Amino acid sequence: MKILIIITGSVGCYKSLDLIRECQKKSIDYDVIATKNTFEFISRLLLETICNKQVYSELFDLDMEKKIGHIKLARDNSNIIVYPATANIISKFANGFCNDLALTCMIAANKPIYFAPAMNKEMWANPIIQNNVDYLKKIGHQFIGPDDGSLACGEYGSGRLVDPGEVLNQLK
Ligand SMILES: Cc1cc2nc3c(=O)[nH]c(=O)nc-3n(C[C@H](O)[C@H](O)[C@H](O)COP(=O)(O)O)c2cc1C
Repeated sequence: MKILIIITGSVGCYKSLDLIRECQKKSIDYDVIATKNTFEFISRLLLETICNKQVYSELFDLDMEKKIGHIKLARDNSNIIVYPATANIISKFANGFCNDLALTCMIAANKPIYFAPAMNKEMWANPIIQNNVDYLKKIGHQFIGPDDGSLACGEYGSGRLVDPGEVLNQLK
């Protein structure tokens, strides 16, 4: 099993470091894409140091795209997990947007994509987001969580990112 981990700009993105560490402990190979907004929350240095490999984030990267890297990343991995998944990436993907590396790779994928949403409870409950989630489920994509619990904003409700262990259990 090789996993493509796509990290997005949620306050929960620090947990993706634990997901990567869990993969390492379990000898699961991975590639990592991070959206540009991820780097508003965690640094590239931290992420690449933990990953111990290059983290991809540029669509128009000459070195990568000489080999059509966005297609290769989508094909080389047996599973794709968006961890955490923002309201933004869920909605853009559901509507066919592909204006960054993560989305282009996701649209080019030939397998179901797993989403682990993380957001404020009202964002998660918003009918726009729920419609997009329903549509993605209808066409075969999978959602893991979100959990109920205390949220980073201080509110309590549904929108909490599931733990990395649960993600790996479900991928198996
Ligand atoms: C402090 C802070 C925390 C945020 N946390 C979340 C979050 O947990 N979930 C979410 O969907 N958006 C969150 N956002 C908004 C996203 O960062 C924003 O929608 C961004 O465009 C997401 O980009 P990406 O999906 O390309 O990574 C947060 C924004 C800020 C400033």
